[in-house]
Amino acid sequence: MTALVIEDVAKNFGGVSALRGVSLSLEAGERLVMLGPNGAGKTTLFHTIAGTIIATSGKISLFGDDITNMPPDARARRGLARTFQITNLFPSLTVLQNILLAICGAREITFQFLRSMESRRDLQARARELLEQWGLAASADQTVRNLSYGEQRQIEVVMALSGEPRLLLLDEPTAGLSPAETLRVVEMVRKLPRNMTILMIEHDMDVAFEVAERVAVMHQGRLIAEGDEAAIRANKQVSDIYLGLE
Ligand SMILES: Nc1ncnc2c1ncn2[C@@H]1O[C@H](COP(=O)(O)OP(=O)(O)O)[C@@H](O)[C@H]1O
Ligand SMILES: [Mg+2]
Repeated sequence: MTALVIEDVAKNFGGVSALRGVSLSLEAGERLVMLGPNGAGKTTLFHTIAGTIIATSGKISLFGDDITNMPPDARARRGLARTFQITNLFPSLTVLQNILLAICGAREITFQFLRSMESRRDLQARARELLEQWGLAASADQTVRNLSYGEQRQIEVVMALSGEPRLLLLDEPTAGLSPAETLRVVEMVRKLPRNMTILMIEHDMDVAFEVAERVAVMHQGRLIAEGDEAAIRANKQVSDIYLGLE
């Protein structure tokens, strides 16, 4: 089954063409990393898949359904989850509280709401299980703002996983991380269930090939290359872009 089909998607912001006819598809269970320099259109493409931006033209299908104009929550109910490039945790709450909010799909919180979630044993158990599974149990009761940036990025990924998505979108989960922290995130992604379809944005080519067998490269709103490690490394336009020649 095909998880995601992107057909000739374009997005204009006023006079800026952020996406210029992007077509791409992922089979269920496939992992693909999206490479490309800053401003290439990678995050915009993620937004059009997640529904936070509606494409100017083109079509997007998720597990066979046309989602092109669907609101984000309807896409989430169809199995899509994403992390954001900027941290979107609640810094004054504990790690466990953040996971509870993610499990409940809550975007806004009140003190009362949080209290009633915390009293639910089943939710607590599920949140602790998730943290245990990802080696973050020791941080459960720490306030998020006291964690390292690397740990915060890992918590973000766990939050995206809390709904057991069928398609996971990761926008530069390793951005700003040390080599050791990057390795931890790479291992985390590699350990995800094989039936989960993953589309990840990454800026480092070596990291990209650690995560996926297939890589796509974007440049100036277009998909300019797609293939395995050998094909991407042999691509002249890709190496020119990465060497800053283009
Ligand atoms: N909301 C927006 N309004 C106007 N221009 C935008 C907006 N979002 C992105 N852009 C522009 O679209 C282009 C692609 O940006 P983006 O998708 O963030 O690239 P990437 O994630 O590959 O770095 C850039 O030129 C950027 O300035
Ligand atoms: Mg981006």
